[in-house]
Amino acid sequence: MSEALRVLEHVARQEKLTLSYQQADVGGAGIDRHGQALPASTLKVCEQSDAILFGSVGGPKWEKLPPAQQPERASLLPLRKHFTLFANIRPGLLYRELTDASPLKTERIPDGIDIVCIRELTGGIYFGKKETTTLADGDVQAMDTMVYRKSEIERILATAVTTARARKKKLCSIDKANVLETSVLWRKTVIDYIAKNAPDLELSHMYVDNAAMQLARNPNQFDVFVTENMFGDILSDEMAVICGSLGMLSSASLGTGKNSLGLPFGLYEPAGGTAPDIAGKGIANPCAQILSAALMLRYSFGLGEIATRIEAAVKKTVTSGTRTGDIAFGRPAVGTKAMADAIIANL
Ligand code: NAD
Ligand code: IPM
Ligand code: MN
Repeated sequence: MSEALRVLEHVARQEKLTLSYQQADVGGAGIDRHGQALPASTLKVCEQSDAILFGSVGGPKWEKLPPAQQPERASLLPLRKHFTLFANIRPGLLYRELTDASPLKTERIPDGIDIVCIRELTGGIYFGKKETTTLADGDVQAMDTMVYRKSEIERILATAVTTARARKKKLCSIDKANVLETSVLWRKTVIDYIAKNAPDLELSHMYVDNAAMQLARNPNQFDVFVTENMFGDILSDEMAVICGSLGMLSSASLGTGKNSLGLPFGLYEPAGGTAPDIAGKGIANPCAQILSAALMLRYSFGLGEIATRIEAAVKKTVTSGTRTGDIAFGRPAVGTKAMADAIIANL
């Protein structure tokens, strides 16, 4: 986050813009300093802002807390729900010059990868009824419920349609309609919605297990895919690694809310977590956070040109050989700060 803020401050200076922002504790920092993963003061700052640039939350230190009090469930999910940020856009982009960082064979992806995951973010099994009970026979049972309303499916489809129309007009809907009732409704809703509202799109459907395989086999057969919350969580990590690293995967979470500029209010966050295995060493890849800041400028501030400039600087930096360890693969690696320095130099 500190590197992303340096990048933002740098472009603000260059463009003579005033970005005003407040930092607020959330997740483990919220628990440690305020006794709550999502302190009321933090929520208030978010409500008074035009966008949220989110870091990552969670980690071993807080895993012993009751599950409902842990950082992920008690801060990030409530934030998404509070602002009804149902549309999570995750761009899967692997630069042609970076194909060696993908675990896929270069000949399968000669031009890199350029796909988009649209993940439903405020419904499904994440937010359905949950319960753990001890049964009469002494056995213990836990339950999570996956629930979708037609209207929830339709509103994420609106985002998928806009995204697909701005690209190759190709949309793949991913579900498990051979097993799940929610997926049966999902598929029917997709068919009806696209027939009525977007007949110009080339629509396909795929079961999620096949989709996981197809992503690894030939990712560019997708252009835009849309899927429910948990499938999107899992497939987007897979998408991240075939695109080089989770450390490169940015995301925008949008709803229908507008900010004081009349633009979409959104939460912008790297798709990866707190990377406990490398945390504190100064070697994490800052690109996902920096690219999330770029998405914020584009969607919530109408500063698309500056966003594009940041994206170009990130691309120039990694493709000219300055890479953190997660994408270095045997080349010399730089640390987090040096990576951001190089991006700033390229700006
Ligand atoms: P993770 O995403 O933190 O890490 C998975 C792997 O990817 C690790 O090997 C990590 O080193 C690597 N990685 C992730 N981001 C990286 C980066 N920027 N640079 C280099 N490498 C990077 O997932 P996890 O280990 O399953 O989860 C760790 C914690 O993060 C958990 O508490 C989890 O709940 C939380 N989490 C939070 C978010 C979020 O806040 N948005 C997202 C995912 C996971
Ligand atoms: C993500 C994360 C979150 C999710 C966790 C931390 C709650 O994995 O944004 O992908 O599952 O949505
Ligand atoms: Mn995830």
